[in-house]
Amino acid sequence: MADFHLSGRTVVVTGSATGIGRAAVDAFAAEGARVAAVDIEFDVLSRHIEEAGLGELVTPIRADLSTAEGVTSAAEEAMAALGGTPDVLVNNVGAGRLKTFEELSDDDFHRTFELNFHSMVRMCRIIVPAMFEAGKGAVVNVTSDLSRQAEDTIVDYAASKAAVASVAKSLARAYAPRVRVNNVAPGPIWTPFWTDADTGWLKNLEAAYGVQGDAAVQAFIEDRGIPAGRMGTPEEVANAILFLSSDLAGFTTGSTLGVDGGTVRATL
Ligand SMILES: NC(=O)c1ccc[n+]([C@@H]2O[C@H](COP(=O)([O-])OP(=O)(O)OC[C@H]3O[C@@H](n4cnc5c(N)ncnc54)[C@H](O)[C@@H]3O)[C@@H](O)[C@H]2O)c1
Repeated sequence: MADFHLSGRTVVVTGSATGIGRAAVDAFAAEGARVAAVDIEFDVLSRHIEEAGLGELVTPIRADLSTAEGVTSAAEEAMAALGGTPDVLVNNVGAGRLKTFEELSDDDFHRTFELNFHSMVRMCRIIVPAMFEAGKGAVVNVTSDLSRQAEDTIVDYAASKAAVASVAKSLARAYAPRVRVNNVAPGPIWTPFWTDADTGWLKNLEAAYGVQGDAAVQAFIEDRGIPAGRMGTPEEVANAILFLSSDLAGFTTGSTLGVDGGTVRATL
């Protein structure tokens, strides 16, 4: 197993009941880090912590991170659970709906930005200055390949992720050298983001390509031109999150690390 030397560090992970956030929580705990895991799906989160035997290292926290009050209470509870300002903040929470530009209402844009963008801004406003005062800290935001290479749909989602990347650049400059701020930009990763029965994007693929399940995924991979020829795993994204959280990335700030199977063509 990789060792990112994170034993004893304190970490906040948002959106941690399933998918990439869950994989990050598991990986931090495997390192011996103490984690405050925040999610609106508290029962799912708590059950996983119990079943994985992580109760000594991971504290579940219930919050709706799409509201200012939810972020404030989550940050306060997390810092109480961890005994002060965390060493690491992972802004992972996010969601998106597959709609064309013309289908997207103002309310759709608003909801997407509340969760994907304002949760990051609000969490950073509370925690980053405290990290600076403490003399150290690392922030990792989970953005998207779409933040670097926009498509003709999912406009609100891509814009919200690009906005996170922009704020990350500003914070990386404002709080250097004590606090490092970086982004991990996943390509398509096989999580409930795709598979959820109500909100998952798989059913949109099935509708678009006229085939079901694996065949729809394969058609998407070819259509999207993912050089790796597959979707990624949450664990592959978690590895990148842990690296950027660790001192091994001590000279890396204001950067975006793609975990996208080679999808993004630009040299940024
Ligand atoms: N899966 C992908 O293909 C992919 C690609 C690029 C970026 N991402 C990003 O990765 C991040 C994690 O996504 P994932 O794929 O693991 O999906 P996921 O749906 O498995 O995880 C999202 C988590 O956020 C939680 N959440 C949703 N709304 C919330 C709210 N209002 N308050 C608190 N928690 C809330 C969910 O309960 C869930 O645990 C997101 O920011 C997503 O945009 C995912």
